[in-house]
Amino acid sequence: MSYIDTEKLPRHIAIIMDGNGRWAKKNALRRIAGHKKGADAVRRTVRTCRELGIPYLTLFAFSVENWLRPKDEVSALTSLLEDYLRSELREMNENNIRLTAIGDLSALPERIRNLLEETMEKTSGNDGMVLCLSLSYGSRDEIVHAARRLAEDASGGKIRGEDITRDTFARYLYTADIPDPDLLIRTSGEYRLSNFLLWQMAYTELYFTDVLWPDFSKDDLLAAIADYQKRERRFGMTSEQIHGEGDV
Ligand code: FPP
Repeated sequence: MSYIDTEKLPRHIAIIMDGNGRWAKKNALRRIAGHKKGADAVRRTVRTCRELGIPYLTLFAFSVENWLRPKDEVSALTSLLEDYLRSELREMNENNIRLTAIGDLSALPERIRNLLEETMEKTSGNDGMVLCLSLSYGSRDEIVHAARRLAEDASGGKIRGEDITRDTFARYLYTADIPDPDLLIRTSGEYRLSNFLLWQMAYTELYFTDVLWPDFSKDDLLAAIADYQKRERRFGMTSEQIHGEGDV
């Protein structure tokens, strides 16, 4: 088991949960069985992050591109989300977890959207951890959506062009109330960002593992955090500036 320093935990972990389909194939099962196992890995990961005291966890649960998958897979994924929301509400409240969501939520089936809103409302008073589900999410769409709203506010006289800064722009993104991720984990040996949090991940540490998402264990999460803790985050500065020593 990896040793981690509980004083230096990432404040926000984002995860691209990949490999459910390959896990199913490897085990001679249908893709949907892989997603089902993937939902168990979600439960496990949320629990571990909460135990560790990670303040924010964002999971890439469904991308805008995922709508193009076969109909039965899309409906299996939305039912898994529904089951998850129904089964986890109690645990979220017992563990002081607030649920939030980012993405084009208007694209979700009405039943799921209502359930999601109800779960967000019922957990809104919790302040132990924020669990953020990315649903019908695409980063470029998010940025375009923010630009449109900003343009509307500018033409309505609410904001002047010269007052638009990185911080003002960030407030128009779905993630306005969420700090940028410190650590991104992607499972299944793929090395891509896949249109996930492109603006927000400008300085995020990236961690890739070959483990398929349904197999992602507590130890795998600890290994990712331990690796993150070995990195030196310089944000474009020099090592000496970060450590307050040395000269040019
Ligand atoms: C990637 O595997 C995973 C997804 C597209 C969906 C993620 C969904 C879950 C983990 C389950 C439900 C989620 C919640 C929040 C309860 P893939 O199908 O792309 O795998 P492959 O690349 O091996 O085919």
